[in-house]
Amino acid sequence: MDNKIISGKIVSAQIKEQVRAQVVSLNEKGIYPKLSVIIVGENPASLTYVKGKHKDCAECGIISDNIAMPDTVSQAELLAEIDRLNKDDSVHGILVQLPLPKHINEYAVINAISPEKDVDGFTAINVGNMNIGKDCFTPCTPQGCLDMLDYAGVDLEGKDVVVIGRSNIVGKPVAVLALQRSATVTICHSRTKNIAEKTRNADVVIVAVGRAGFLTGDMLKPGAVVIDVGINRNEAGKLCGDADFDSCIDVVSKITPVPGGVGLMTRANLLKNTIKSAENCLKQRKN
Ligand code: GUN
Repeated sequence: MDNKIISGKIVSAQIKEQVRAQVVSLNEKGIYPKLSVIIVGENPASLTYVKGKHKDCAECGIISDNIAMPDTVSQAELLAEIDRLNKDDSVHGILVQLPLPKHINEYAVINAISPEKDVDGFTAINVGNMNIGKDCFTPCTPQGCLDMLDYAGVDLEGKDVVVIGRSNIVGKPVAVLALQRSATVTICHSRTKNIAEKTRNADVVIVAVGRAGFLTGDMLKPGAVVIDVGINRNEAGKLCGDADFDSCIDVVSKITPVPGGVGLMTRANLLKNTIKSAENCLKQRKN
């Protein structure tokens, strides 16, 4: 069983090792990579995710600051804070944790972030550049899915990939990245007729629907690879993915676990993007 599991712990540890070395090298050149995280309100999941991001930064020598705002904050106040961070040369990455309260326009807030500091890769400029295959900040979770496939030696060229979920954060961008690797990509969603019919033909299934145990072993072709993006809690309160691990494990050739899978890769790619931004600053300074 163990040889079927693609461990996010191992892959993210490798990335963090690399990031640590890059931070040392940047520090020697007088650049101190810094990530600013804005969190609005007290959504428990968001608080947990943000805590993990700061912990990773600390482990890798990246400076991180936490800007906590109450859920009564106005959009204007939030935009003013982003403007301040955009202008602060010591800040390389800006992240606004989602979701935001209902009275705030998420699109306006995200697109107020300078694309050069948009380490989540959520601004329209970065999404557009990714879609046309130009240099950009690629979004952290989709990139993490590809990193795990790379680590497992799964070449996507010519493969049938089924993505379940069409969110802007995961489903759509991961489909684009798989297409750029020359996969044949099918995107399934809540209105798709007979999802199992699609997944049974897939070499790789990437599932990001936010429903515990949605993907079951009988929906898979023997030897398929499953990338599980879900982070859910089951009735017993236990953390689990969108794939029903116990029924999938006997069918798949590889699968990512939850916890210890894609979630760790999201965090690792945030570190990578922050370093990329800091390195871009160094390049600009040299020019
Ligand atoms: N909420 C859930 N996932 C993410 C993420 O990757 N970035 C941000 N900013 N918010 C999120």
